[in-house]
Amino acid sequence: MDKILIEGGAALRGEIQVNGAKNAALLIQCASLLSHHPSTIRRCPPLTDVRTMNRLLAHLGCEIAFDDGALRVDPGQVAQHDLEAPYDLVKTMRASVTVMGPLLSRHGRARISLPGGCAIGARPIDQHLRGLEALGAKVELNHGYVELSANRLVGNRFIFDKVTVGGTQNLMMAATLARGTTVLENVAREPEVRELAIVLNKMGAKISGAGTSTIEIEGVDELFGIDHAVMPDRIEAGTLIIAAAITKGDVLIRDAPVDDMHAVLSKLEDAGILLEPTAAGLRVKGPESLRPIDLETRPHPGFPTDMQAQMMLLATQAEGQSIITESIFENRFMHVPELNRLGADIIVNGSSAIVRGPTPLSGTSVMCTDLRASASLVLAGLVASGRTELRRVYHLDRGYASIETRLKSIGANIQRIGGDHG
Ligand code: UD1
Repeated sequence: MDKILIEGGAALRGEIQVNGAKNAALLIQCASLLSHHPSTIRRCPPLTDVRTMNRLLAHLGCEIAFDDGALRVDPGQVAQHDLEAPYDLVKTMRASVTVMGPLLSRHGRARISLPGGCAIGARPIDQHLRGLEALGAKVELNHGYVELSANRLVGNRFIFDKVTVGGTQNLMMAATLARGTTVLENVAREPEVRELAIVLNKMGAKISGAGTSTIEIEGVDELFGIDHAVMPDRIEAGTLIIAAAITKGDVLIRDAPVDDMHAVLSKLEDAGILLEPTAAGLRVKGPESLRPIDLETRPHPGFPTDMQAQMMLLATQAEGQSIITESIFENRFMHVPELNRLGADIIVNGSSAIVRGPTPLSGTSVMCTDLRASASLVLAGLVASGRTELRRVYHLDRGYASIETRLKSIGANIQRIGGDHG
């Protein structure tokens, strides 16, 4: 297993381009299953999650070519295959369950391994299944797999009990080829839901309301392939802003999707970070000292849970006490013990973490536990004195493409070394 070494203390300077959004790309990959025509997905980030989804699509019978950021998916032969998402793929990436809606809608059947527990909490899929049942799917649980079937889905009104991003996207995709009109209420309003609606409409779907809490989908008989460039990644952009700020750097972040980042940008400004939108991108200047921040994670347009761990690291460098509350996932504070080992002062009390700063951090070996926890450890390494060694960096590679090359290009002292380090 690779590890990443960081010598802290270098101020980041220069320019960096934001990559395509992981959570948008994964869903566009799933959406390609709704047609029998090929689709091309451009600005597709070279991440392990994207490659895992490619493995799943290939397993379902798609032909895949992924070259230089352009991903071509040809789903023409899918009907001849077992339409199954096996346990090995679903357990490594939960987003695999979002092939359920497209497969069921287009082919009338799907067999998906239950995702089971995951490091950041239980993450059930009850809302996905209830919604698909409302559209007429027969749902059975056998031997750890969900088996779904339907002749043709039928449009209906469905109200989510809980706001779920993947559930909204699964139902939206399922309803595109259903007979009649579907109205989904209490849906997720994340930018990636809006992006998926844009893509589906390009394919020939009739979806309105994405980005609000009610989405209406008029079913159509057929969808077509598309050529689409993935939106920029708001979570990668947020992580890069914090990297620039905590190192007291000065970085231009090209293509930062500021309109989708209000909650994050306003907290960063509260912390004293200077953010200047320019024609070329968002310019970030780190202040001499940071102010503490209080925040609670919420569905969009609230503060995103995928930025919580990185903000906690920022809080360790602020002058005073910050309170960070996680209300989307249970057990999403796995970075806390590792940050404390580096010298942070963080106490967890239920779903809140109390962070007292500023604490100087000093480098040591740390273990990545999940994707965003790993991002907070990279940020910690950038400000810690001496050398920080990150192990199990495969968690990081799921969502940040070549993080060491990218951070090095703006002045970080960081390198990856390959080998078996546990
Ligand atoms: C997506 C994102 C992930 C992000 C999360 C929340 C992708 C590929 N992943 O994950 O990065 O952290 O949104 O913004 O886009 N829930 C249920 N029943 C369900 C579905 C969800 O109770 O049927 C719960 C979950 O356990 C969780 C909450 O709802 O507590 C939100 O989960 P959800 O929005 O579905 O997250 P994902 O779509 O898995």
